[in-house]
Amino acid sequence: STAAEFVVVANRLPVDLDRSADGTQRWTASPGGLVSALEPFLRSRKGAWVGWPGVPDVEVDEFSDDGLVLHPVTLSSEEVTDYYEGFSNATLWPLYHDVVARPVFDRAWWDSYVKVNRRFAEASAKVAGEGAVVWVQDYQLQLVPSMLRELRPDLRIGFFLHIPFPPVELFMQLPWRAEIVRGLIGADLVGFHRPGGAQNFLWLARQLIGLEPSRGAVGVRSRPGVVQVGDRTVRVGAFPISIDAAGLDTLARTKKVADRAAEIRRDLGNPKTVLLGVDRLDYTKGIDLRLQAFHELLQEDRVKPEDVAFIQLATPSRERVEHYQRMRGEIEQMVGRINGEFARVGHPVVHYLHQSVDRTELAAFFSAADVMVVTPLRDGMNLVCKEYVACRHDLGGTLVLSEFAGAAAELSSAFLVNPHDLDGVKSALAAAITLDPAEGRRRMRALRRQVLTHDVDRWARSFLEALGSEPSA
Ligand code: G6P
Repeated sequence: STAAEFVVVANRLPVDLDRSADGTQRWTASPGGLVSALEPFLRSRKGAWVGWPGVPDVEVDEFSDDGLVLHPVTLSSEEVTDYYEGFSNATLWPLYHDVVARPVFDRAWWDSYVKVNRRFAEASAKVAGEGAVVWVQDYQLQLVPSMLRELRPDLRIGFFLHIPFPPVELFMQLPWRAEIVRGLIGADLVGFHRPGGAQNFLWLARQLIGLEPSRGAVGVRSRPGVVQVGDRTVRVGAFPISIDAAGLDTLARTKKVADRAAEIRRDLGNPKTVLLGVDRLDYTKGIDLRLQAFHELLQEDRVKPEDVAFIQLATPSRERVEHYQRMRGEIEQMVGRINGEFARVGHPVVHYLHQSVDRTELAAFFSAADVMVVTPLRDGMNLVCKEYVACRHDLGGTLVLSEFAGAAAELSSAFLVNPHDLDGVKSALAAAITLDPAEGRRRMRALRRQVLTHDVDRWARSFLEALGSEPSA
C-alpha cells in the first residue's frame, strides 16, 4: 500500500467513473471548482488523492494516474442519497449559502454523514505515510479532521472550506453545530475564503465548544486567528483560492482556441455582442436573475435582439436533488419564453446548453464572449470569473460580477452588481454592452494583473506554509 507524504481528501476524486449503457467504463473530469483548482497543484506534487468516484456501489482499487495516486472510497446508493444528496447538498449547501433555499434537517442524513466521514478518515489514515500532510477539503468532510487525528496523531492536518462559511445566526440553526465545529478543530489549520468566515468560525468555537465542558473540550480559548484546544493550537485564517492562470492564458493563446472562438461567433451569426454565463446548474448561481434582466432589456428595447446572443452553459449538477430539478425547469421555461418572444428562425437570442464542455472548448467560449455575466446570490469564491479574465490576453471582454461572490473582493475593476437588484443588473449589462473599448481594456488590464499574480499555486503554498508544512518563500 502507499505511504504518501502529501494527501488530499475530498468528496470527489478528480475523475468520475462514467458507466455507459453498454457496460463500458471510462474516467472523465469531475465537475466543479474544487477539482479544477486543486488538480494541477496536486499533480505537480505526486501525492495521493482520496475521494469518491462519483457513482454508487463501485469498488475500485487504488490506482495511479500520471504520477498521482487515486484512492477510491465506495459509497452505497443509500449513502449517496443520505450523505451526499441529503446532508451535504440539501442541508449544508443551502445553509452555508445564506439559506437561498430552505435547508432540510434530517437525522438519518446526519447519521450517514458521520458514517461516511469516518470511512474517509479511515481511508486517509491508511494512505498517509508517517508524519504526512493531509489536506481535507470542503463541507462534505467536516468531521474528518478530528476523526483522522484520533486515528493518526502523527499527521499534520489542514482543512479548507471551498464554500462560504455562514453568519453565526444561520450556522446556529444546525442541530449538529457543535459536532461540526468539534470535527473541524481536529485540524492544525482551518482555512476559509474570506476573513469574515474565519471570524465567524472563531466565535462559534468559543461559544459552542467553550460552553460544553462536559464533552471533554475544557480549556478552549481563542485569540485572533487561533484556538487553543488543550495543548494543541489550531490556526484559523482566510486563503482566497484561485486558478491555474498561466495554464489558461497559454491555452487561450493557441490557434485552436482562437479558431474555435471565431467559429462560435460565426455560428451565432456574428452578432455585435455575445454575452456568456457559465455555471453548474445551481440555484445559488443566479442564472434565473440574469436571464430575467436580459429579458427585460429586450422588452424595453434597450437591447436589440438582432445585435445580441446570450449563451448560457449550464453544467448538469446534483440532478436528483429536488431544488435542482425545480430550478432546471424554471430556467428552461425562461429560455423558452425569451426565445419565443425575440428569436427569429435560425437566430435564437438565448443559446442554452445543459452540457459539460472540456477545457479547450470552455476557453473558446470565454474568448468569444464580449460580456461575461456572473451573478451568484452567494458564492464562496467563483472561479469562472477568474478563468474568463485569464483567457482575455487580448484585453477584450467585460466582466459583470456579483458582489456576493468571494472573487468580488479581488476583482474590483469588474462591473460589480447586487444580483437582487434587478434594475442594477440591467444597468450593468447595458453599460457593459456599450462600453468604450479603451475603458474596457483598462479594466481588463487591472483584472488580469490581479488574477495572473494570485494563482492557485500561490494559494496552495500560502495555505501549506501556514500549516507549517512548506518552507516560507
Ligand atoms: C462546488 C463544491 C465542491 C463540489 C463541486 C461540484 O465547487 O465546493 O465540493 O465538488 O461544487 O459539485 P458536486 O456535488 O458535483 O461534487
